[in-house]
Amino acid sequence: MPSAQYDLRPPVDAASTPPAAPGRRAVIRTIRERHAVDAHSEPNAIRPPWSVLFSDYSNRFTYHDFASAERAQRADGTMIDFAAGSPNPADIPDDLLRAVSLEAFSSHEFDGQPESPIEGFDELRELLAEHMRTRGVHCKARNVMVLSGCEQGIDLCVRAFINPGDCVLVEQSTFFPALQSFRSAGARIVGVPMDGHGMRADLLEGYCARFHPKFIYTIPTFQNPTGSTMPSDRRRRLIDAARRHQCLIIEDDAYGELRYGDECPIPLAGMENEGYVLYLSTFSKTVTSGLRTGWIVADPHVIGRLAALRRMVDQHTSTSSQRICMQLLREGRIAGHVRALAAAYRDRCDTAIAAFERYAPHGMRWSVPEGGYYVWVTLPDGVRALDALAASRAVGVTFMPGGVFDVDETDDAHIRLNVVHPDPGDIETGIRRICATVTGLLREQTGR
Ligand SMILES: Cc1ncc(COP(=O)(O)O)c(C=O)c1O
Repeated sequence: MPSAQYDLRPPVDAASTPPAAPGRRAVIRTIRERHAVDAHSEPNAIRPPWSVLFSDYSNRFTYHDFASAERAQRADGTMIDFAAGSPNPADIPDDLLRAVSLEAFSSHEFDGQPESPIEGFDELRELLAEHMRTRGVHCKARNVMVLSGCEQGIDLCVRAFINPGDCVLVEQSTFFPALQSFRSAGARIVGVPMDGHGMRADLLEGYCARFHPKFIYTIPTFQNPTGSTMPSDRRRRLIDAARRHQCLIIEDDAYGELRYGDECPIPLAGMENEGYVLYLSTFSKTVTSGLRTGWIVADPHVIGRLAALRRMVDQHTSTSSQRICMQLLREGRIAGHVRALAAAYRDRCDTAIAAFERYAPHGMRWSVPEGGYYVWVTLPDGVRALDALAASRAVGVTFMPGGVFDVDETDDAHIRLNVVHPDPGDIETGIRRICATVTGLLREQTGR
């Protein structure tokens, strides 16, 4: 400082500098030095001091730019991508979407109805309630609000319940946009330790007594990022602790339908009916996140409050997406697709696990998920996740470092792999390369 942007003095030769052709960068000589500036911007313009102008709220937001970095790298199509949080584009059921869209838009039932109620179309709420009942969650349409994605539900819960300084308990490694949302609201976020079966419910009683959380945010089924699933007895313990300490549970079930086997634990929302559990899910993982459609199941009193808060930013979920989702749910059209998808995912996960068993160096451990997208890998002692990522990228493979999901942002011992995202033929190659990279780093470490 001061940089050329804040240099109030006019450039010496500004008047005589011919304008550059549009799109070209003009080199403009200032009193102190030369600076390349965009040909369209005024050479002596003072840009807004963004960091002062942005609110404290937005400045509290920590932005992980991995997603855009990944996109840039993937653009050449050579990277084997275990980093994404989305399905492989080839898994989006385009034919099904085409068929149900045609049906949805050739019907006249919504003619003359340009908008939807803020809570969503009544029929979609009814269909979602019916869908939830098949998952063991006994609710009615009035318990359901259609959302513009599950993330909107997290944000609305934050607005509805969190005062600055309130405590939120979360799994120590969790969905990072949720952490950002809690942080932005000034919440005190406390991570509860996890093991292979998710959040340590045996510790919850003590955490609740000590921190008096407003809510516990949990992804109990096929968790992001660890892939873990909480068994029923833990779920019961979690609910008991929440009831005893009068705090809410936000259950994020984004992956719950993608089970590899026949058995799937009942959601927390199906084990409790006094209103302590607010349940969230989405079409993003089973169909496509492009629909931007999710839903929340909660006490009607809470639905009313969330709808009132939502009115400030979003009138309702896109009517086009709602009509497509209705058509997907009618006559169980989506069920067959989800069954086929989960079976394909189980095969990809088996391929990934077999590759780890074959190629992983001593000291490397991995979770074996029962559904969803993610395998959580513990690196051998002394190998750092960021080093493993840099070295793996150099050989054309990418994944997420564990620190992104860590409440304290210090975890450098884990990596997350979305094992269902790469093309099936690339999974073994990708994991072989990661294992070779880690083996190389380990050798550097030990000097052997
Ligand atoms: C746990 C979890 N919740 C919510 C979402 C996002 O859901 P949506 O696209 O419906 O906002 C994701 C996506 O990565 C997720 O992993």
